[in-house]
Amino acid sequence: MAAVTDRRALLTALAAAPLAAGLGLAAAPASAQAADVPRLGALAAAKGLFYGAALTSAQLQIPPELGRLLLDQADVWVAEWQMKWGPIEYDGPGLRNYKVVDAIADAAAAHGKRLRGHTLLWHTQMPPWAKNGRIAETRAAWDKQVAPFIADYAGRYAGRVFQWDVVNEVIEPDDGLPGALRNSPYYRMTKGSDYIDQAFHLAREAAPDAKLYINDYGLEYPVAWNERRRVALLKLLESLLARGVPVEGVGIQSHLDIAYGFDAAVFGRFLDAIADLGLEITLTELDVREGVDNPNPLAQRYQRAADEVRAYLETALDRPAVKGVLTWGLCDPFSYMRLGLDIADNRGLPFDDAFRPTPMHETLAALFAGASPRST
Ligand code: G3I
Repeated sequence: MAAVTDRRALLTALAAAPLAAGLGLAAAPASAQAADVPRLGALAAAKGLFYGAALTSAQLQIPPELGRLLLDQADVWVAEWQMKWGPIEYDGPGLRNYKVVDAIADAAAAHGKRLRGHTLLWHTQMPPWAKNGRIAETRAAWDKQVAPFIADYAGRYAGRVFQWDVVNEVIEPDDGLPGALRNSPYYRMTKGSDYIDQAFHLAREAAPDAKLYINDYGLEYPVAWNERRRVALLKLLESLLARGVPVEGVGIQSHLDIAYGFDAAVFGRFLDAIADLGLEITLTELDVREGVDNPNPLAQRYQRAADEVRAYLETALDRPAVKGVLTWGLCDPFSYMRLGLDIADNRGLPFDDAFRPTPMHETLAALFAGASPRST
């Protein structure tokens, strides 16, 4: 398979990809290699887990090899950015365009994939008319512009999204607010955490069958800033549950970083504390950041990333509360690490620049195959 070499040409092609109504998957060459690569989704499902990956609508078509892998490997699909408020209500308050989300949801249904919803509420990628302080930070703005979006969006995909990230990244200890909450426009609209309560109640009413999640990052390592976030999140969960807010799951983004040094005991205690609250867990955005200009030989870098994933998942998959794993993409050239963070050569996903499985893929396959069965 041809390797992905010219990023700019690829991005141009992706941006221009016609959004076919049905997002018919390009008939990628079902090459022998693709056919004999162990299927992560199937291996996970055999143990009552699920495995999925983030995608964009274009990636289901271009390049065809990626569409093939998304079909073969992932049983759950999550939109990397197209199911956020910004792209949907882009044109103006109340002017919601669900065309792309409908296409992704239709493609998922057509191919027997479960769709994970990311995300109903996030302070990043807000619509142009709302971001950078353009939306009034008042309760009226919440009641008239934000809450109606959540209700409409969650309701439109009721029965079609099996897990929703109702709120994403609401913790920020460095902002110095009560409860270590992020100083977001939503916090300021409701003058505290009430927006979180409201978002969950709106989602519950609109989408009774979806599992309702809170999703966050910086929870994985034995470093001080992660510990502050773990403590804050557990306290928030306890207070939400005490108020009867229908939180059912915690998304741990799992953007691993080989610079930190994973500690199984620390992370295991955190998982157990979440489970003790009666909540389920999904590892929602797994990838490995290996540092800018990593000087090591490629084979060593791939193995190091795989080893980090092994240590992390051996701890996580030991917990019945952990229901599934999604990687934040499948192939390195399409990783946000390369496209968004400019870590130009990051190798932190299960497939490489030539769409070949990396040692991480082998590790994921072995871990799923060796996982203890659990009830779905
Ligand atoms: O907006 C343009 C669109 O007009 C254009 O057609 C398209 C062509 O590819 O690009 C769009 O640009 C950017 C898009 O990524 C595609 O690259 C968006 O401006 C940019 O905001 C978007 O960034 C995404 C980011 O979240 C913000 O939504 C990243 O892809 C995505 O990987 C990243 O994912 C986040 C999770 O949601 C939350 N956890 C952290 C994670 C990484 O930052």
